[in-house]
Amino acid sequence: MSDQTNVAAWQLDQSSAAAYEEYLVGRLFRRWAQRLVAHSSAAPGERVLDAGCGTGIVARTAASHVAPEGSVVGVDINEGMIAEAQRRDTAGEVTWKVGDLERLPFDDGSFDLVLIEQVLQFISNREQALAEARRVLAPGGRVVLALLRDLEFNRSYGVLAEVLDRHAGAEIGDMMRSPFAGPGAEDILEELNRAGFRNVGIRHDVLDVRYPSPAEYLRQEAASSPLAGPLGELDDRTLQALIADLDGALARFTDDAGVVFPMETYFVSGYR
Ligand SMILES: C[S@@+](CC[C@H](N)C(=O)[O-])C[C@H]1O[C@@H](n2cnc3c(N)ncnc32)[C@H](O)[C@@H]1O
Repeated sequence: MSDQTNVAAWQLDQSSAAAYEEYLVGRLFRRWAQRLVAHSSAAPGERVLDAGCGTGIVARTAASHVAPEGSVVGVDINEGMIAEAQRRDTAGEVTWKVGDLERLPFDDGSFDLVLIEQVLQFISNREQALAEARRVLAPGGRVVLALLRDLEFNRSYGVLAEVLDRHAGAEIGDMMRSPFAGPGAEDILEELNRAGFRNVGIRHDVLDVRYPSPAEYLRQEAASSPLAGPLGELDDRTLQALIADLDGALARFTDDAGVVFPMETYFVSGYR
């Protein structure tokens, strides 16, 4: 159980690309990136695009698979993410670019493989983004994308959202739900088919996730997401009540070493 008397030490970092890399990539997305790249069968000599690259974990992971003749480009709409990606790419293995998935700044047929990890749930015009992914692929090239499954399959995040509803308001709870509110598997398969991809396929995958306590689970989620601002404004008393509620609500996900739960994503692929 978390230390409910130590609220003053419960620092909420500001949301930033560096916090995203430290907390979300460090604990979750690095492992998802390894699985996504392995599932994509990225091979030496291939030209890879990491679309919506964030701080670049998929691109950095793919680079070693396509070396030495292959190449990797990371593109993201957020300049802060691209700056952090550049800072983390100490080997200079990747070309980084600011750009929009709905208007990719690349010529037709520039890539053999387009990887998209946890991005499509945030895109307003998915049809356009999928058409762009297909346009920049060479004939025979493939797209492989990762999307979180809904909260039925990621239950601990639903519990976290319900606790946020109670203590911080429904708007904040919904912020926690948004990464899980992407298209369902059937919808995305249909969308890929409609975009003209061939041999469309799906694979579900499950990751085991651990945090040392419910409070630390919340702190790391908040520090690396848009929750940082609103949660940072809560007074100590509200925060104390929120953490106590979270301890109880997550009891069935808690053991002697902290919180542990399964996190589910699906990978979808299709060929040009
Ligand atoms: C949850 S992050 C995933 C980042 C990275 N793929 C990873 O696995 O760590 C979502 C990313 O999508 C980017 N994004 C959202 N809309 C975008 C758009 N229209 N074009 C390009 N990137 C976009 C965001 O800036 C953010 O970096």
